[in-house]
Amino acid sequence: MADMAQLPEHPVAVFDSGVGGLTVLHELLVSLPTEDYLYLGDTARFPYGERTPQELRSFSIEIAEHLLAEGAKLLVVACNAASAAALDALERHLIDTGREVDVIGVVAPATQLAVAGSHTGRIGLLATPATVASRAYERAVRAADPHVHLERVACPDLAPIIQRGFQFDEQVVQIVRGYCAPLRAAEVDTVILGCTHYPLIGPLLQRILGRGVTLVTSGAGVARSTERALAARGLLNPRTGEGTYRFECTADVESFNALGTRFLQMPLNEVLHVELDQRIAA
Ligand code: DGL
Repeated sequence: MADMAQLPEHPVAVFDSGVGGLTVLHELLVSLPTEDYLYLGDTARFPYGERTPQELRSFSIEIAEHLLAEGAKLLVVACNAASAAALDALERHLIDTGREVDVIGVVAPATQLAVAGSHTGRIGLLATPATVASRAYERAVRAADPHVHLERVACPDLAPIIQRGFQFDEQVVQIVRGYCAPLRAAEVDTVILGCTHYPLIGPLLQRILGRGVTLVTSGAGVARSTERALAARGLLNPRTGEGTYRFECTADVESFNALGTRFLQMPLNEVLHVELDQRIAA
């Protein structure tokens, strides 16, 4: 397959099912400000948390192909559901098609932080149904420390509430309370926010779970892995000033722009609409 060679001045590509991955992009912008970024939100097929592993593999490969064609030098799978179900398949696809591109997922960085930070060895996971069903976090925790207990809670309503712009009313707070109840009962001291959307309601979660619980997100770990991967291949952008960023989504650009600007707290400027070829199979 024809591909352009990766160069230091090429962008780092980040993708998610929607605006949630902007929480990961934020950490990348803080840690690696000299890089250029290309962000894709597959909003037409949101929520990924209700998708099958086959669909997630197919979507991830298709998006990776699109981003590589746009010159991406590294891919960040900012979506937990896609990372959990499709990271291995995506890496295999890239190897099979002769591409030497690093792919950074979100499951391992968050797990490592959580396992290292927990004092009691009792960790909670809030995630979408697809991520919980994949058991990817369970495997990652077991690999890091087989004696750590992981209490998993699938939260089918949470990402859609946030993606809609989360108007907080009593009903939403009750839903979030319900998701946190098993974690409180299990007396966890650390909770992995296993969905890119959840850091956006971090204050609400922290109030419900209490001060003694540490919330762990993948963003900072992803940024560190990205930096190491780029450095290892000599692909860090050598510029001294700030890089650029651009955004693409597969559904309505106006709502993506409005919501994304609010979440990222900086203007997204123009958001490009892209049509993905959904026939590509995993
Ligand atoms: N961004 C997805 C994730 O991190 C959650 C939202 C969705 O269900 O698409 O799993």
